[in-house]
Amino acid sequence: MSATNAVSSGGGATAEQIEQARTDPKLANVLYHDWEAGTYDDKWSISYDQRCIDYARDRFVRISGDDNWPYDRALELGCGTGFFLLNLRQAGVLDEGHVTDISPGMVAVAKRNAEGLGFSVEGRVADAESIPYDDNEFDLVVGHAVLHHIPDVELAIREVLRVLKPGGRFVFCGEPTQRGDIVARRLSQLTWFTASRVTQWPVLRNRWGRPPTELAESSREAALESLVDLHTFDPDRLAALCMRAGAIDVRTQTEELTASWFGWPVRTVEAAVRPGSLGWNWAMFAYRGWQRLSWLDENVMERFVPDEFFYNVGVTGVKSEAT
Ligand SMILES: C[S@@+](CC[C@H](N)C(=O)[O-])C[C@H]1O[C@@H](n2cnc3c(N)ncnc32)[C@H](O)[C@@H]1O
Repeated sequence: MSATNAVSSGGGATAEQIEQARTDPKLANVLYHDWEAGTYDDKWSISYDQRCIDYARDRFVRISGDDNWPYDRALELGCGTGFFLLNLRQAGVLDEGHVTDISPGMVAVAKRNAEGLGFSVEGRVADAESIPYDDNEFDLVVGHAVLHHIPDVELAIREVLRVLKPGGRFVFCGEPTQRGDIVARRLSQLTWFTASRVTQWPVLRNRWGRPPTELAESSREAALESLVDLHTFDPDRLAALCMRAGAIDVRTQTEELTASWFGWPVRTVEAAVRPGSLGWNWAMFAYRGWQRLSWLDENVMERFVPDEFFYNVGVTGVKSEAT
């Protein structure tokens, strides 16, 4: 069974599929993200209001250095529930949106989210290594947190350049750096270890504790989580890869140093406690804290700290007019 044919039945993956996914990262991505699709927006605090519109637009402008939009036709790879492209459309960055993902469940949710916002996007199930569109179709190709899931990233960038019109731009944001990812994972493990135990203390359990069965992540699909993240990136090597694929005007931009040291433990606490138990004050603390530390990173830390220590890297490039 090929990964793109592995449509989940809705009742979850079979034991046989999960066994196969251990040696097939694309299948692992389909099964895992199909399973996550229905709860993904809640899990990652994704919304389609001003908070996430600003976030998506700011990432786009920061990485691309481009505020000369709207783009006419835009395509997203690995769209998930539509967070990046739908919010960019609401921000006025693009007019006509097309979303693709290797997970059929994610494409369905992205289309539903667009309808809920009062517009429609075309959605296709697609592997980024072979994009099902003709040459020279798009003015813009975007992605958020997708490149690190794709086995052959250079092949995907070649495909991006094929479907872009000459002079068209690609913008990929939110990819983990090698060093930033190590720190973020260690902080998350430490926070999970502490929070999952402290919230089981009798005095706290009723209000914040998750049932131990949930904490144990009994679902078989949860085992797939460790199989879907394939890469972390060194910014210079990522830029070199895009140039090898044929892009011009390539540049990378890193983001989030102290903001990620704060953000990952915050997200881990949210996952460790009873859903909904933290309330509005916590949500504001998390958002404002992240905003202030992002300001610090952008205005102070970037002057002193080498870019490979930051957590996120984004990359942009252009298809040559000569192609
Ligand atoms: C971490 S999620 C990010 C989703 C969304 N872009 C966001 O930022 O919320 C990664 C997405 O990439 C998709 N994906 C993984 N491998 C892919 C591939 N080879 N081609 C296309 N999409 C892929 C997954 O199904 C998943 O929806």
